[in-house]
Amino acid sequence: MIYNFDEIIDRSGNHSAKYDERMKKFGTNDVIPLWIADMDFRTAQPIIDALTRRAQEGLWGYTNRHDGYFAAIRSWQKRRNGWDFDQSLMSWSLGVVQSIYTMVQICTPVGGNVLIQTPVYSEFYDMTELGGRNVIENQFVEKDGKWVMDWEDFEEKLKIADLFLLCNPHNPLGFVWEREDLKRMVDLCIKYHVPVFSDEIHSDLIFHGKKHIPTATVSEEAASYVVTGISGTKTFNLAGLQASTVVFPNAYMKKKFDTFWSNMDIHRNNAFSLIAMEAAFNEGEEWLEQLLPYISANFDYVVDYLEKNIPQIKTYAPDATYLMWLDCRALGLDDEALNRFFIDKAKLGLNAGNSFGRSLSGYMRLNVACPRSVLEQAMQQLEAAVKAL
Ligand SMILES: Cc1ncc(COP(=O)(O)O)c(C=O)c1O
Repeated sequence: MIYNFDEIIDRSGNHSAKYDERMKKFGTNDVIPLWIADMDFRTAQPIIDALTRRAQEGLWGYTNRHDGYFAAIRSWQKRRNGWDFDQSLMSWSLGVVQSIYTMVQICTPVGGNVLIQTPVYSEFYDMTELGGRNVIENQFVEKDGKWVMDWEDFEEKLKIADLFLLCNPHNPLGFVWEREDLKRMVDLCIKYHVPVFSDEIHSDLIFHGKKHIPTATVSEEAASYVVTGISGTKTFNLAGLQASTVVFPNAYMKKKFDTFWSNMDIHRNNAFSLIAMEAAFNEGEEWLEQLLPYISANFDYVVDYLEKNIPQIKTYAPDATYLMWLDCRALGLDDEALNRFFIDKAKLGLNAGNSFGRSLSGYMRLNVACPRSVLEQAMQQLEAAVKAL
């Protein structure tokens, strides 16, 4: 089947957060929403078919999570990432964010320290602080437009950390980690007895011939140490169904995690997420293989447009995710003014860069998982606004 990602789908009756929460987020509905990480594309047809069949049954009582569900996810990881693991060490979770919260709760004391590498997905801050723990930051350093890790600082911070949250691949910088770097990080975490949670939610969205390396595969030690969060919700645009998977290195960690959830009596998928994930991982590959070049071409379109028409804003085509990191420092606006400029003048709803790195200034995050014509409109609005500055 050929998918048409150029199609504009009206999401106005869809109760979509990306559209319907514009007023709450930006104070106006008059912005093109290019913020929260979901896509404006319809998902793979086999998923739609499976959900339609299930909907038509008209009977959605408490649902048993059968082995085939985890088998579909495991088989996907084996096929695409060469990662195999013991199926009995897999758990379900409502979302990767909830898994992060749980890891913070079970691995760290109140007042403890959680190490994150910033800029990073803002929930890494929020899930830490919600539970009364402290964020400690290993900040990426920008060198000639490339962001690199400060290893010395990483090791120093590990000495006082109770948990390390890794974003692999990285949102918002969009890089795919190299095996050597992952191994070096895990070795250091083992040395300082710091548990590792690897958030791999973007691991199917990889470009430019790069390969995602699951952190747990970098060594035997990593396989018996790292806890991994994966999900089909980013890959197949199913975030509203709320389901993800955690792969544990041992039964002890899995039990601790599962107990945290079962204490709230959360222990079943909703009937639809179960069906959708199974269809996605068993039959969704054809759709994904068509989606990736479309997103990659969207990256190229934005890079090219900015270079030619708005050279004050710098960016690059990321190797992972569908999110672009815009360096707007040359516009000379402080963060509040930059945010207002995007909303009021360009009429675009992006994420402010300082929500990913609190000490950063002058960056914005752009979601390009939308039809090309929407991006074209967005770039024209941005160009006109910059020219009027
Ligand atoms: C790195 C990262 N982790 C987790 C999530 C959200 O995961 P979930 O919807 O499964 O809670 C996102 C969503 O943007 C993300 O970028």
